[in-house]
Amino acid sequence: WRLQAPLIAEINRLKRQAGAVILAHNYMTPEIFHGVGDYVGDSLGLAKEAARSDAKIIVQAGVHFMAETSKILSPEKTVLIPDLRAGCSLASSITGADVRLIKARRPGLPVVTYVNTTADVKAETDICCTSANAVQVVEWAAREWGVDRVILIPDEYLARNVAAQTTVGIIAWKGRCEVHERFTAQDIADMREAYPGAEILAHPECPEEVLAASDFAGSTAAMSDYVATKKPKQVVLITECSMASNVAGDVPGVEFIGPCNLCPHMKRITLENIRDCLVNRQFEVTVPEDIAARARQAVQRMVDLPP
Ligand code: 13P
Ligand code: SF4
Repeated sequence: WRLQAPLIAEINRLKRQAGAVILAHNYMTPEIFHGVGDYVGDSLGLAKEAARSDAKIIVQAGVHFMAETSKILSPEKTVLIPDLRAGCSLASSITGADVRLIKARRPGLPVVTYVNTTADVKAETDICCTSANAVQVVEWAAREWGVDRVILIPDEYLARNVAAQTTVGIIAWKGRCEVHERFTAQDIADMREAYPGAEILAHPECPEEVLAASDFAGSTAAMSDYVATKKPKQVVLITECSMASNVAGDVPGVEFIGPCNLCPHMKRITLENIRDCLVNRQFEVTVPEDIAARARQAVQRMVDLPP
């Protein structure tokens, strides 16, 4: 990715001139992640940074729901995404109207919504969560509402994986991440046979049999931290392909092996369209203020939970 140095230098100059920061998700390609990202991390980390940053312009090197989350938390800032088509199969699995229907059927139960959702879904929500804090948020919501069950939407697998770690009952939806749902227990068995010493880390959006066969389950940031602290000799990251390339840059000596899947939505973001985004101030992401105000409460509640 160092071959891209001239374009990287141009982006870094443009962003300084514009007073912009680039928030880059862990699934960005290495030239974006290492070359131009001011803040890199998982969905939770980027949401917190969007709230904290005093930059006038936020460029979201990630998918659309992340840009919306930044705008919800920072309505006074200009939030740009380099390609408006960078979506997410989880975000498109459910609408605000669906959530209203679920709530009507289960009155009195809190609604916990994964951040991988549109603003109008968040607006129908009591509190958001990410894969990094889902168990903590579910337990908080059950305590606050004084109930033994909560609604956790829209990722069916995240819901099942949370259910396995708590006594709180979980009512789920049928959304799936098109990247993580494709991993199978057979993938893990094959890796164990080929690389008996390798540690296998999986994202909680994977099917439960994949997590059961893995050594560790966690958000993208939790996976990077695990590799940085434990420095296993060989590691398999059961997630999007850029994760391994990005983490590898920071932990020489660790060998990254094994299967990965590409997220076509994340891969819509490129150095070229980040440059165009800064030059032309495109594409601005906005959220109607009535929706943003209700969604903000749900996201802010999550951000304010103690670590
Ligand atoms: P995290 O970065 O929160 O682990 O989420 C992964 C993901 O799939 C985001 O789209
Ligand atoms: Fe959505 Fe999955 Fe892509 Fe993340 S990896 S943006 S959850 S489709």
